[in-house]
Amino acid sequence: MCDSIKVFAPATVANVTCGFDILGFAVDQPGDEITLKKSRSGQVRIVEIKGDEGALPLDPDKNTCSAVIKRFLKELGSDQGIDIFLEKKMPLGSGLGSSAASSVAAVYAINELMGRPRTLEELLPYAMEGERIACGAAHADNVAPGLYGGFVLIRSYDPLDVIRLKTPEALYATLVHPHIEVKTKDAREILKKQIYFRDSVRQSGNVAGLITGLLTSDYDLISRSMHDHIVEPIRSILIPGYKDVKDRVMEIGALGAGISGSGPSIFALSNDEEIAANVGLEMKLIYAGFEIESEIYVSRINQYGPRII
Ligand code: HSE
Repeated sequence: MCDSIKVFAPATVANVTCGFDILGFAVDQPGDEITLKKSRSGQVRIVEIKGDEGALPLDPDKNTCSAVIKRFLKELGSDQGIDIFLEKKMPLGSGLGSSAASSVAAVYAINELMGRPRTLEELLPYAMEGERIACGAAHADNVAPGLYGGFVLIRSYDPLDVIRLKTPEALYATLVHPHIEVKTKDAREILKKQIYFRDSVRQSGNVAGLITGLLTSDYDLISRSMHDHIVEPIRSILIPGYKDVKDRVMEIGALGAGISGSGPSIFALSNDEEIAANVGLEMKLIYAGFEIESEIYVSRINQYGPRII
């Protein structure tokens, strides 16, 4: 058995327009990297965090990585000491599933390091606990696709019922991360507690349409279904340039676009690699016009989740 391990876990796009808290997919880039080293200290310690320095707590009970690892070891009945070296490749509050990537990387790495005592499915509740620590809600629409790869549906939270969905062959994601911070906790608090019946009906139709479109590789149906009548109207107000980006990417051939997770990142799906690249160029241009710096990521849908590097 090894004494150390390094794991990459991917960024994820949660909600995918109409599927608030129940739909998500993983991308190839960006992602977080974690190195775990066994130690004789009997404690779980954060030794180093690179990237996003100062933004993350070093207290082992408050940091998602260490808290997840501590819980995993406790439930295993192990007093193994672990030193954690975390390399953040995306900032918190980006909407790219930053906290989820760290939690997924941590739980995947500790499971491997301890000789794989748990199945992949059994790791999900640990990663969800990381989300609860990060934003107060144990939502699974980032951690589930982060752990399994591909598109994932959370059919139910209680009991937990997570379904991996088939990904159509020619699907590309383009992400823009404008340099603005939106905290998931805040973006959840501004949502209405009640919604209109008619909005629920429209939203359900779109979720069903999007899933059917994914399962049958029906790109027109995917496109027709990518609408959010409940969350986007509220959250988009927090994202400068949101409408400009969305209108422009649809003009140049994207299938659909929406807020990535709780924002401010925006994602678009395309069924053509060249369109996906052009979407990225246009996103960058629009934010340059707003004098807001941004990063662009163009990626296939990640099918593997975390990997040992
Ligand atoms: N479903 C969560 C939300 C995702 O929208 O609040 C956060 O990344």
